[in-house]
Amino acid sequence: MKNFRIYKLLVFLIILVISSCGSDDEVIYVSPSGTQLVQASFTYSISATDPNVILLNNTTQGSGEFKSEWNFGMGDELVLDQPGLEELRLNGAGSYTIKLYVTNAAGFTEASETVRVDEDGVCPSNICGGIDPSSLKGAAVGFSVGTIVRDNRLTGMHDEVIRRDFNNITSEYQMKMDVMYPSQGTYDFGPADAIVDYGVANGIDVHGHALIWHNSTPDWVENFAGTDAEFEDMIRDYIRTVLERYKGKVRSWDVVNEAIADGSNELRFDDSVFRRRMGADYIEKCFQMARDVDPDVLLFYNDYNMASDSGKRAAMFAIADRLKALNLIDGIGAQLHISYNGPARSEIQAVVDGTVSRNLLMHFAELDIRTNPEENSSVTALSSERALLQKDKYKELAEIYTDIPTANKFAFTVWGLKDNESWLLDFWGVPDFPLLFDSNFDPKPAYQGVIEGFQ
Ligand code: XIL
Repeated sequence: MKNFRIYKLLVFLIILVISSCGSDDEVIYVSPSGTQLVQASFTYSISATDPNVILLNNTTQGSGEFKSEWNFGMGDELVLDQPGLEELRLNGAGSYTIKLYVTNAAGFTEASETVRVDEDGVCPSNICGGIDPSSLKGAAVGFSVGTIVRDNRLTGMHDEVIRRDFNNITSEYQMKMDVMYPSQGTYDFGPADAIVDYGVANGIDVHGHALIWHNSTPDWVENFAGTDAEFEDMIRDYIRTVLERYKGKVRSWDVVNEAIADGSNELRFDDSVFRRRMGADYIEKCFQMARDVDPDVLLFYNDYNMASDSGKRAAMFAIADRLKALNLIDGIGAQLHISYNGPARSEIQAVVDGTVSRNLLMHFAELDIRTNPEENSSVTALSSERALLQKDKYKELAEIYTDIPTANKFAFTVWGLKDNESWLLDFWGVPDFPLLFDSNFDPKPAYQGVIEGFQ
């Protein structure tokens, strides 16, 4: 330890001398052997299951060999960084300075973060003593607030609003199979990488959506030429490739999305090549494949109409029970594409209760609240009356979510930033105003409703 400190001092002095040489250019220290220093960097998030635990994510990137060690601010001991997220329990109120040292032949660099803890646990966004009502994420205590992104909507106002209000992002469509795996053996991770890199660079969690979805299956998979066994091997390979690529960077994945058929509440068959090729236990198989690749990443089953349709809800919980018995599932994503006038609070609460009683994480996953759901409506603008009813419904969702036990909280994710970008405009083909911001990025009453509901 003493040697390490002297070493640290020497390297610091060398860097100081070099960096005071009067040039405005960035100074990169290069060792006599030609090796460059590797800049240490990390992010952290509060565990969804324990408010006193943080998950440290070593985001250091560099070529060649380097060693990463943590100083957890609780004495001198350095702890070698392990692959994946590093869990750290911070007991007792106070400030903890966590440091990461990265050493290679050229010397070492360090990154540090001060984490504040109060009697409720680690303070979200380092704001202790309750909520900070100046942003959505500030008002959410003990869980994340999410939105969707596209790789070409990460700059300007999008970037500003995302970083101000949200600490979780979901790719709207660019991390689905038809985009990431357009032809057999050829992946396209361009947009997905841009999204994941943005999250990592800004300390925003990334929720992966969605590995297996019957609606984003590339044609070559729909028409797969090989045997069923070859199909299954191909899917295993796809899940492995994607999860390995984003290990430690994507915190959670929707492994299977929308497997239940409307009406029958059976598994989709005709419209799911996965069900047809891999059998009635294809969901368990896919979760197992994901778990085998990354035991640390959180795995979700995600579906819609779980509040409004009690039969579908029961079918979904039956799937969850099978997965839970195999220890393969961490949480349930309830999409919550709903309307200002329904489903009722009690129906939404039933989704939460079923999830909590199974000791799973609850993701309010794809929130949007239609203001213009009536058939043959001629409405073209958002009336103040509807805006307030929508606010009430958003507030209700936020209240229900806030009351979930901390150990079962995960994220409250809105499916879009501004009204004119909502997928619902194309989906229903009528004007609507389902989100928290208007087309100028101005917060609507709905935004205020969420803040109020979080309190
Ligand atoms: C939608 C996206 O918003 C669209 O841009 C895309 O074209 C189709 O998918 N349920 C889901 C989401 O799980 O992935 C869907 O997102 C909306 C419904």
